[in-house]
Amino acid sequence: MKLTRTTLLAAALIGANAFLFTAPAQAADKVCKLEISGNDLMQYDKKELSVSKDCTTVELTLKHTGKLPASTMGHNWVLTKQADFQAVANDGLGAGLANNYIKPGDKRVIAHTKVVGGGESTSVKFSTSALKPGEAYEYFCSFPGHSALMKGTFKFG
Ligand code: CO
Repeated sequence: MKLTRTTLLAAALIGANAFLFTAPAQAADKVCKLEISGNDLMQYDKKELSVSKDCTTVELTLKHTGKLPASTMGHNWVLTKQADFQAVANDGLGAGLANNYIKPGDKRVIAHTKVVGGGESTSVKFSTSALKPGEAYEYFCSFPGHSALMKGTFKFG
């Protein structure tokens, strides 16, 4: 067989492609950080949080800027689909502080922090793989009586 210029060129191109495909292609893990605080007046400082869809992990920090204890003015941060928010909040009422006012094993909860009191902070890390761009999400505090005021829109996309 006679090797033509074309054959050699093709071989060179295949070789180049093989190199490209085997070169280390690490999917970068992009951690996006969010912060929110809650106070003694039963308020979060933000009505909306948003995360870009190129974030693979979200790390949310909740700071309680008040002075009251977790037993009387506890705050947490719970993320659900907007459609699930009210039912998850209702089901969490009887779960108690020990369960962070979340019904144990509640699959509708996408992520949540524990309940903290004044001067404390807490954080949660979660994968965005459970989130769909364009879906409506809600975050709220599941401490009894708080979700009417302590809630906001979570945007992913
Ligand atoms: Co609260």
